[in-house]
Amino acid sequence: MDLHPLQGCRTLYRWQHGHLEDHLRALLPHWGDKPLTITSQDLNANASFVNYVRHHRLLDPCTGEPFELVEKSIRKLGLIGSQEARFHRIQDMLRGSEHFHYPACLGVIETPWESLIFTEFVRGKPPRMQAIAGQLALGIAELEERSHRYLSNQPWHKAALFWSMDFFRPWFLLRPRFNYARCLPELQRLAASDERFAGLADSFKGFEPLLTRLKSAAWQSPRCISHMDYLRKNLFIDKGQLQLIDWSEVKVGRVGFDGGAYLGSLFRRKDMPAFLTARTQFLEAYQAALPAHFDGVEALRNLDYMFLLTALFHCLRPETISEYQEKQRMPLLRQKYDYLLGLL
Ligand SMILES: Nc1ncnc2c1ncn2[C@@H]1O[C@H](COP(=O)(O)OP(=O)(O)O)[C@@H](O)[C@H]1O
Ligand SMILES: [Mg+2]
Repeated sequence: MDLHPLQGCRTLYRWQHGHLEDHLRALLPHWGDKPLTITSQDLNANASFVNYVRHHRLLDPCTGEPFELVEKSIRKLGLIGSQEARFHRIQDMLRGSEHFHYPACLGVIETPWESLIFTEFVRGKPPRMQAIAGQLALGIAELEERSHRYLSNQPWHKAALFWSMDFFRPWFLLRPRFNYARCLPELQRLAASDERFAGLADSFKGFEPLLTRLKSAAWQSPRCISHMDYLRKNLFIDKGQLQLIDWSEVKVGRVGFDGGAYLGSLFRRKDMPAFLTARTQFLEAYQAALPAHFDGVEALRNLDYMFLLTALFHCLRPETISEYQEKQRMPLLRQKYDYLLGLL
């Protein structure tokens, strides 16, 4: 593919839905009118506002070489562009990263109804998430460092864009996933039928003042781009290299948030020994990799904040409780609750 990694990502605006072929010719004008034969296949998309994710294969009409790309269509609400499309506009800041690799972006097409993002197709295996803790720590520290530098040097006229992407905007903060307290009535109901869980809902209420303190400390701390979605299906490993995709959860976050998001999702999916081992590995590598101009104590406090937001919601939501009940794993759920309450 004749793309340089992270070459500048162009955004083109269209008033109507167009044909794939027209979009590709617009993004790659050197193809001119040469004929194209494209084979397409849908990939499994997960996010609710994603219309589709498609893998297209064709031969580059200029070189005759195979050319594979991914098209992701994201629905717009009230003509507002997606976070992910906005991220791709500034993706250049990550050019030359050593620890994470990012598929090149061919360009973005914005219509009033959707953002179409065209990226290079990457191959590799989904990693075992607990096995790559150290590697993720290095990638996250690098992403935070580069994006912090980039955001700190932006002119004021870009401020509105970054303001709208900030984690602390109400349109993000009010999402159920950041409001674990809504799940407590369900825990109270569980306690009525299972005495192992008696009294826990009251104990969990104790997190509210702690989270308020962590939130106001995080708000003031250094900004960076946070990916926030470290799931197996968003990473590919190939010859030891990690490729990171899917910026649908991206935010202007704070240093430490991504580590907390990763550990939070690991805590949700793994048993305690696997989680604790990966946590130690992650924290050691992250603390060693974090550039000295960041305050390490502040970064770890932000990490704890994001970990708690993620872990509390996922472990307390009714779907999780039913899942553990069905699989008869309630003792593990209780262990996870004890771990969380031990952090109070
Ligand atoms: N650039 C890419 N290269 C290879 N596979 C991809 C690429 N982008 C997406 N995919 C595949 O499509 C799936 C869905 O895309 P993703 O961007 O993660 O959408 P969603 O936001 O719905 O999770 C991914 O889990 C991955 O398997
Ligand atoms: Mg995904």
